[in-house]
Amino acid sequence: MKRSRIKSVIKEGKKADQVMICGWVRTRRDSKEFSFLEINDGSCLMNIQVIADSSLVNYDEIIHLSTGSSVTVEGLLVESPGKGQNIEIKAEKIGIIGKAADDYPLQKKRHSEEFLRSIAHLRPRTNRFGAMFRIRSEIAIAIHNYFREKGFCYLHTPIITGSDCEGAGEMFRITCLDKLPSPDETGKKDFSADFFGKETNLTVSGQLEAELFALALGDVYTFGPTFRAENSNTSRHAAEFWMVEPEMAFCDLAGDMELAEDFLKYLIRFALEKCHEDLDIFSKFVDENLKSHLEAILNQDFIRLPYKEAVKILIESGKTFDFKPEYGKDLQSEHERFLTGDHFKGPVIVYNYPKTIKPFYMRVNDDNETVAAMDVLVPRIGEIIGGSQREERLDILEKRMDGMGMNKEEYWWYLDSRKYGSVPHSGFGMGFERFLMLLTGTTNIRDVIPFPRTPGNVDF
Ligand code: 4AD
Ligand code: MG
Repeated sequence: MKRSRIKSVIKEGKKADQVMICGWVRTRRDSKEFSFLEINDGSCLMNIQVIADSSLVNYDEIIHLSTGSSVTVEGLLVESPGKGQNIEIKAEKIGIIGKAADDYPLQKKRHSEEFLRSIAHLRPRTNRFGAMFRIRSEIAIAIHNYFREKGFCYLHTPIITGSDCEGAGEMFRITCLDKLPSPDETGKKDFSADFFGKETNLTVSGQLEAELFALALGDVYTFGPTFRAENSNTSRHAAEFWMVEPEMAFCDLAGDMELAEDFLKYLIRFALEKCHEDLDIFSKFVDENLKSHLEAILNQDFIRLPYKEAVKILIESGKTFDFKPEYGKDLQSEHERFLTGDHFKGPVIVYNYPKTIKPFYMRVNDDNETVAAMDVLVPRIGEIIGGSQREERLDILEKRMDGMGMNKEEYWWYLDSRKYGSVPHSGFGMGFERFLMLLTGTTNIRDVIPFPRTPGNVDF
């Protein structure tokens, strides 16, 4: 007999259907003549109730089944007289596949997030994390659907890279050398004996490569893992995270902001429609106002706010921040939260940042002081998207790179794109985990990624 998933049995199963399901025991309750098993197979939040009659040949074993044990059940779907379910399985055969030892850590009670992080290999078996990772999967597919519907081409950019896109130097070096070369008198390190013959790192962003493809295919996007050795042990930063990066040729900053807003709203709408059963658990146990927060985002136009005005609002707020807001300094998360949570009470796109705090590739504005950058800030999370119009003018780009002390020769391929048929183009990066935090009300990034990598933490 073919195995059915519990989700389809609950949704489509009819009385008197003969079914076979496989899953793990969540709870067991015994009465005189029956044992009631709640079985979950991960296909949905719901368990299915199985009635094991004492006439079953292995009944003695069944009444000793512990939480976490794996079983197969064959039997008849019957209407359930009990509360909480419409349908249950009257078992004709229960196969015990793997017993769970008595010290199974997921006994039926609520566990703290910290504890569950320490058993990240087992936490997907809980309701909350099962729901989280089903939602994560659905949203990943929705991202592809969004760009596909819009005619974007999906691009795989390399994970091993020889360049630093963001210029922040927060990269994980990759080497096959036992001993790193020491710097020469000019400070240069000779990696010619290493695997690639030069210094290489894990990528912090696929943007530079995406730009090259946008200038050939028009509209492209990447969606993959990125790595940052930022030593910031915050609840919003991971050392390995997934980023979605669309890049559009013949597009300016206004078009970039439009896409960012449309994209976020599409994903939220998708989740409310297609993932509501799993989202419910977050409304129940994580944030009771979750749905109204999400609907509020759908129902408002994102504010467009020049950086200069953002700083003015922060200064004039009279609020004491840990970091004093000041023109020329990056916005801190407390500032982002003030703007979105207290002041505008909704998403805000801050744009035109001072060029001194932004990477080399951003387009210099006519004031020669700011660049065409934009960050989408949302309540409670802060920055969820960072993007910009790119500097398409070769002379200005080269000047900027010189000014920042960059080695232009290493970026010869990037500069070529400005030499041969350069066009205005724009793009952004959305942190996939930050989006999942917004969507589920989860406050720690470690709880939206299967196996989080943060400073000092690389278990599993
Ligand atoms: O603002 P960032 O650094 O922008 C870029 O990397 C650009 N190259 C993107 C582009 O224009 N194609 O990062 C983009 C987003 C942030 O807004 C944030 O959501 C997320 O990536 N992010 C992180 N998420 C988790 N952990 C970290 N350490 C993150 N750093 C950035
Ligand atoms: Mg950023």
